[in-house]
Amino acid sequence: MSNEYKTPDLKSARMRKGEILHERFTLDEEFFNIGKNLKYRIQTYGCQGNEADSEMISGIFEAMGFIRSFDERDADIILLNTCAIRENAENRIWGEIGRLKSYQTKNPNLILGICGCMPQEEVVVNKILKSYPYVGLVFGTHNINELPKYLKDVFVNKKRVIKVHSYEGAIVEDIPKVRMQTHKAWVSIMYGCDEFCTYCVVPFTRGKERSRKKEEIIKEVRELVSQGYQEITLLGQNVNAYGKDFKDEDYKFGDLLYDLDKTGINRIRFTTSHPRDIDGKTITAFKDCKSVMPHLHLPVQSGSNEVLKKMNRGYTKELYLDVIERLKAVKPDISITTDIIVAFPYEEEKDFQETLDLVKKVGFEGAFTFIFSRRSGTPADKYPDIIPAEVQKERLLRLNKVINEGYLRGNKRFLGKTVKVLVDGFSKTDDTKLTGYSEHNKLVNFTGDETKIGKIVLVEVTDAKTWYLEGIEVK
Ligand code: 5AD
Ligand code: SF4
Repeated sequence: MSNEYKTPDLKSARMRKGEILHERFTLDEEFFNIGKNLKYRIQTYGCQGNEADSEMISGIFEAMGFIRSFDERDADIILLNTCAIRENAENRIWGEIGRLKSYQTKNPNLILGICGCMPQEEVVVNKILKSYPYVGLVFGTHNINELPKYLKDVFVNKKRVIKVHSYEGAIVEDIPKVRMQTHKAWVSIMYGCDEFCTYCVVPFTRGKERSRKKEEIIKEVRELVSQGYQEITLLGQNVNAYGKDFKDEDYKFGDLLYDLDKTGINRIRFTTSHPRDIDGKTITAFKDCKSVMPHLHLPVQSGSNEVLKKMNRGYTKELYLDVIERLKAVKPDISITTDIIVAFPYEEEKDFQETLDLVKKVGFEGAFTFIFSRRSGTPADKYPDIIPAEVQKERLLRLNKVINEGYLRGNKRFLGKTVKVLVDGFSKTDDTKLTGYSEHNKLVNFTGDETKIGKIVLVEVTDAKTWYLEGIEVK
């Protein structure tokens, strides 16, 4: 069947084929004024990868003459950059589209758009085609660089555009960006994921692993340093796989950390790491590179070897503990946080106990914890559905209790100490206080000098709560 839309299919999205192409983005003159007198609004959901994509999407909008709308009532286009990782993330989006529809009744010219990970799923696009005729623009994670063409079709040719590719395209450099902050920046170093954890939709929504060239990354970070940026967070679904796809040179994530340390950036963070792929050089970077911050987010997912196997994680609990030991050997005060899924289809009470045991052994100082969510097309979608909902919730509550003790313990170790804080701005809950993150990635609310926003200051910690530290700036 042929139609004017291009829709994805998960079977093709699973395939890994072809060369990785590198291209550069340029904006042709025909697109310059399409956004004249028009306002755009982007609502971003999900991970930092989506936040970084939204900065590029904003960059394209503004290069085409659109201006950002700060009030949804006066926007000409509202774009939802979506996340597909769990069912409740998706339900939130469907609800939001329904809510935004009411603005279209008042302004029939308003374009509602959906991009990001959800449109990469065929069930989602089929649902939009069937039940959401008022959504006028749909594109995925692989074709952000084609947005100028889509916006021309939508605003000038008055067409409905639904264009989602199953395969990743080239790595496209030079897409303009409107960064959301002036002191901290996201830097994508690679795209896609080849891990195929059985629960996860990301290898389908984001395509195969492909790394940006090191020269491009180093150039971007040098520019950020010259613009006064203090901190970068290197992004990738599995940053430790960086460089695996290079054919002509042996250059991995650890090498990149050592090179970026020389750019003069004050702080380097990175996410997300995979325990199986962390190499020796990445571990020693925590000791040798002064800009590499003493915090690592290292998702473990489960403490049971049987469950880890069913998840296709490619490591055992013992290997995970070994990585932690090696990290602590080079950086004894490092703070470790993690992600954990409870109630994975084959998880029995004894498996869950092993997870609790591992949490205590590692001494995590924070975690994102989730109940397993079935994702269409993933291998785990075919696993049995036998854990009752009450058991799922009860395991999450028990886990969170232990995790929260870890948060508090992690914060308490800084009581009475002086920590370095990169100041983000005023606290959202108390505008007499400033707020920022310490080197160990602890949230610090403190009394201090507001002219230091965007800078690194010294703060003496006077109190430690579960979720944050309190302090006073040391002048
Ligand atoms: N169900 C529950 N949690 C999931 N995650 C990824 N896929 C699922 C799923 N299907 C969690 C993992 C991952 C984090 C980003 O989201 O813990 O590390
Ligand atoms: Fe969500 Fe994963 Fe897509 Fe990020 S990559 S937006 S976490 S589905």
